[in-house]
Amino acid sequence: MIFVAILAGGIGSRMGDTDTPKQFLNLGDRPILIHTIEKFVIIDEIDEVIVLTPQNFINHTKYLIEEYIPNNDKVVVIEGGETRNDTLKNSIDYINENHDVDDDSIIITHDSVRPFVTHRIIRDNIKAAKECGACDTVIPATDTIVESRDGKVIKNIPIRDYFYQGQTPQTFKINKLNSLIDDLSDDEKEILTDAAKIFVLKGVDVSLVKGDVTNIKITYPYDLKLANTILNDKND
Ligand code: CTP
Repeated sequence: MIFVAILAGGIGSRMGDTDTPKQFLNLGDRPILIHTIEKFVIIDEIDEVIVLTPQNFINHTKYLIEEYIPNNDKVVVIEGGETRNDTLKNSIDYINENHDVDDDSIIITHDSVRPFVTHRIIRDNIKAAKECGACDTVIPATDTIVESRDGKVIKNIPIRDYFYQGQTPQTFKINKLNSLIDDLSDDEKEILTDAAKIFVLKGVDVSLVKGDVTNIKITYPYDLKLANTILNDKND
């Protein structure tokens, strides 16, 4: 089976108005979160889309889905967690409790605030995770990366060709992820807050999927302006 976890449990503090977390702000004529969910529900291979939001936004999210994506039986809304990783964990717990997961079952995890993910990226994630067990969506770093440990002087300027910027989706075989998490010591569980990093540190390959410069994460008010420009450009 193929599951999607839309991570929408944050409050968007860097956007300013935390009464309305950024995923509920409008982009064009509908909420950012709706744009994002729409990208996944229309893909036939996907069995279930799990949307994880703050507890006090669950009913609002259900209402929005009914309003904008009516008559679909693929989407469920459940509570997210305190951190992004807790939200991801809630999605995996939900799947383990409610479905029979086989060794080929995968979970596509995606930031709710990356509404411009493309069908090509989603399909490449599914293919790569089926073949390799885990994948991460990236674009080549365009700026020179400068390393400093104290924020005052440069320690190193690594070769840019080796560096990429991480986007989402990140996609994993669920049973593989479950077994790696079971293997973590309590100390490792504290430190390892990124699912892809768990694979890397346990020596399991995570393959790269080519992302897209338009697959931006809306973080600051400026990003929402940029997102509206991208939307208009795509609609032209
Ligand atoms: N996220 C989540 N659960 C959390 C925190 C974040 O599902 N407890 C989600 C956000 O909703 C977002 C994605 O993770 O879709 C990327 O995180 P980020 O952009 O950092 O979102 P926020 O945590 O909401 O933003 P901020 O750090 O500005 O508060």
